[in-house]
Amino acid sequence: MANDIIIAPSVLASDFGNLAAEISAVDDAGADWIHLDVMDGHFVPNLTFGPPIIKMVRAASAKVFDAHLMVSNPDSLLESYADAGADIITVHAESCSHLDSTTARIRELGCKAGVALNPHTPPDCLSYILDRIDLVLVMTVNPGFGGQSFISAMTDKITEVRKMIGDRDITIEVDGGITADNSGAVVAAGATALVAGSAIFKGGGVSAYTKNILAIRQAAASYSAQED
Ligand code: DX5
Ligand code: ZN
Repeated sequence: MANDIIIAPSVLASDFGNLAAEISAVDDAGADWIHLDVMDGHFVPNLTFGPPIIKMVRAASAKVFDAHLMVSNPDSLLESYADAGADIITVHAESCSHLDSTTARIRELGCKAGVALNPHTPPDCLSYILDRIDLVLVMTVNPGFGGQSFISAMTDKITEVRKMIGDRDITIEVDGGITADNSGAVVAAGATALVAGSAIFKGGGVSAYTKNILAIRQAAASYSAQED
C-alpha cells in the first residue's frame, strides 16, 4: 500500500539556476514524479517558466513530468506543454471556461488530464466529468508560492473527492505545505500522490533529498500500516 504512494517533488523550491541538475538529483533521491509549477503572473501573482524550459530539462529525468498549470487561458499552449514532454497536464477548474473541452484536448494530445481545485472551490464542479479525467489535484494552500502552511480544512475535501471518485481510476494529488507531519493525514483521507517543495528541497543534494523523501514516504506508510 505504502509503495503505491507517489512522491512528486515540486521544483519550485529548487535552485532554478541549476534546474536540470536539481531534477536529476531529486530523481536519484527516489522521486516518483517531477512536479512542475507553471505560473503566469496573472492567474497567480508569481511567475515561473513555460514550455521551453520544460523541454530543456526533459532529458534530466525519465520520470513522469507532472505539469501544474497555474495560468489563465491554458488552452492556447496545451500542445506546447505536450510537445515539451509533459506526461500529466493539470489545469485549474477556476481558469477554464470549458473545462470538459480542455481536459478532452489534453487527452487527445496523449497526456493524462488533471484538474486542480483551489481551496475555496467545491469538488462538485467535477461530478459530470469524472469519467473523462485522470487526476484531481486538491490544493492544500492558495496557489502561487511555495513554503506556505497546509490548510487543514482541506483534509475533508480530500475525503469528499475520494467518495465522489468511487472506483474510478483517478489519482488524488495534494499540493501545498505537505510535510512528514501531515502526509499520514492526507493519505488517510484518500490522497495517493503527494507534492512537496520546501520539505524535499531543503538541505541541497541527493543525500538530503533522499532523507526528506523517505521521511514523507514513511509517514504515509505508517498510516497505511495501521490500516492494513
Ligand atoms: C503552490 C505550488 C506548489 C508548491 C509546493 O502554488 O503549486 O507545488 O511549490 O511547495 P511547498 O511544498 O513548499 O508548499
Ligand atoms: Zn503545484
